[in-house]
Amino acid sequence: MRIIIINGPNLNLLGKREPEVYGNKTFEDYYSELQFRFKEVELEYYQSNIEGELISKLQEVGFEYDGIVLNAAAYTHTSVGIGDAVKAIETPVVEVHISNTHKREDFRHVSYISPNAKGVILGFGLQSYDLAIRSFL
Ligand code: DQA
Repeated sequence: MRIIIINGPNLNLLGKREPEVYGNKTFEDYYSELQFRFKEVELEYYQSNIEGELISKLQEVGFEYDGIVLNAAAYTHTSVGIGDAVKAIETPVVEVHISNTHKREDFRHVSYISPNAKGVILGFGLQSYDLAIRSFL
């Protein structure tokens, strides 16, 4: 089982960024825990702050891997291009968010990913990623 986690803009700042919303653990530390917890999974992690790079990564893995866990971060709410990429590829995408975006500002209630995602997991903190990986197993 080959699964990739793709993180969008500003998620490289986890641990430092708005800890009251996103917690104080870095994604690298959390990712080591995931690798330990899901030894049976061939897990990969990719992060970019650049919309086009996220689209290229989705295209690259989207016909090869068994699952994609995608937190497109702010691009979730703006990117027709990422939404189209999720539609174009074959690998199922589970959309995740650390925070419950529906409890936050109105502009975060819209997602260009959800209509083409296999499912959506949000609001469970970093554990949202655990749940997304589990959904593929
Ligand atoms: C986020 C929610 C988005 O609204 C925000 O822009 C992010 C992170 C989350 O994981 O809660 O950067 O995707």
